[in-house]
Amino acid sequence: MADPTRFDPFGALRGVLRPPADKSISHRAAMIAAMGTGETDVIGYLDAADTRSTLAAVQAVGARLVGESATATLAEDDGLGAARLRIAGVGLRGARPAAIDVGNAGTLLRLLPGWLAGQPQGKWTLDGDESIRKRPVDRVASPLREMGARLAARDDRLPPLEVEGASLHGITYELPVASAQVKSCLLFAGLLAAGEPRVVEPLPTRDHSERMLAAAGAQVRREGDTVVIAPAERLEPGRIVVPADFSSAAFFIVAATIVPGSDVLLHQVGLNPTRTGLLDILRRMGAAKIEIADVAEDGGEPIGDIRVGHSELQGCEVGGADVPLAIDELPLVALAACFAAGTTTIRDAAELRKKESDRIATVTDALRALGGQVEATEDGMVIEGTGGLRGGAVDSHGDHRIAMLGAIAGAASREGVEVTNMGAAAVSYPGFEGDLGSLQQGPPLHDPVH
Ligand code: S3P
Repeated sequence: MADPTRFDPFGALRGVLRPPADKSISHRAAMIAAMGTGETDVIGYLDAADTRSTLAAVQAVGARLVGESATATLAEDDGLGAARLRIAGVGLRGARPAAIDVGNAGTLLRLLPGWLAGQPQGKWTLDGDESIRKRPVDRVASPLREMGARLAARDDRLPPLEVEGASLHGITYELPVASAQVKSCLLFAGLLAAGEPRVVEPLPTRDHSERMLAAAGAQVRREGDTVVIAPAERLEPGRIVVPADFSSAAFFIVAATIVPGSDVLLHQVGLNPTRTGLLDILRRMGAAKIEIADVAEDGGEPIGDIRVGHSELQGCEVGGADVPLAIDELPLVALAACFAAGTTTIRDAAELRKKESDRIATVTDALRALGGQVEATEDGMVIEGTGGLRGGAVDSHGDHRIAMLGAIAGAASREGVEVTNMGAAAVSYPGFEGDLGSLQQGPPLHDPVH
């Protein structure tokens, strides 16, 4: 791919598309299918770099792809832009020892050790790319050790991470940061621990693991801010449906909101309320043309259509409970804030510094390079809206969400944006450029969005 990639302002975005399958749910589907007894059909597994790493990891510990999915490549999809897999699990206690390459996948790095730590017969190492080697694992290692696990990490906090299986006991763990990855890791460990482990969340975070484990037969319940899991003999997921990824849809939700004349319909998107905080934030900013329709539950997750048109935006305050519910969309909130009138303040989001890049730094640098008035703070950003962005050049720093942020900024800017290392988008959204292009040539939809 030519580097850099140029994104010019095209005018209104119009059309219909189904964003790729949900990355968070796909990671969990592969891992929970691997823990399962018997075969699990995963319908709509994300075919992207991160989730290929997870599929390879579960195969390394002994899970198998069976039936047609054993010979098909992931790219042979079911027509929904995602693959249909049949995974034969190894059972909750049957993981084989292995050296696991997690690639760029932080979710794999944090969740899988939870399952492995409680299997006394094995030893595993998890390592990945240059970016993953900077991402903390002490957040999972220390509570797992409290449960009796044996883990070792570089400098006690960075990958490679070594896990030696042991007998675990349940603890009550208060998460120091609101992290669905840490919560999920401890719930996986709890399946193999004696007693009833409890995870206390400072704020609600995405609950895909709880939903999927419950659907597979685990006893998992919420008591206020606490998730309680009972040890299990076996899991039988059977069938897992993966909706389109709200976090991928979010790029077009924000694009349609900030580019005048836009009207975009996004099909069959996951609408789990622990993921859709961006919609609440945009509505507070004045985005009046966001319609949700045809919501139905499939496999425990709400799925529906999102239709978005342009609105004039006002700055707003973002913090507290907003943050975990929109953690991966906060870069897009900052972009929208550049197009708003007045000041937007994002607080309580220091976790952004621990993502695929330091997203407080990379978002601030990117938007400033395009003419935005953005100041980084320790735990967020302050953005002075000027109604638009001039354009310029953005380096993705190998972070998929920064690459796509640059592309959307280009489509909405006055002069266009060049993105260096646009290829990083393939971590979660391999067809992103094609999908953006299709919306830039789309004819008007019937019955304009109200
Ligand atoms: C994820 C949870 C979030 C999110 C990440 C995926 C998950 O991380 O940023 O992209 O799948 O559980 P934290 O829970 O650590 O904030």
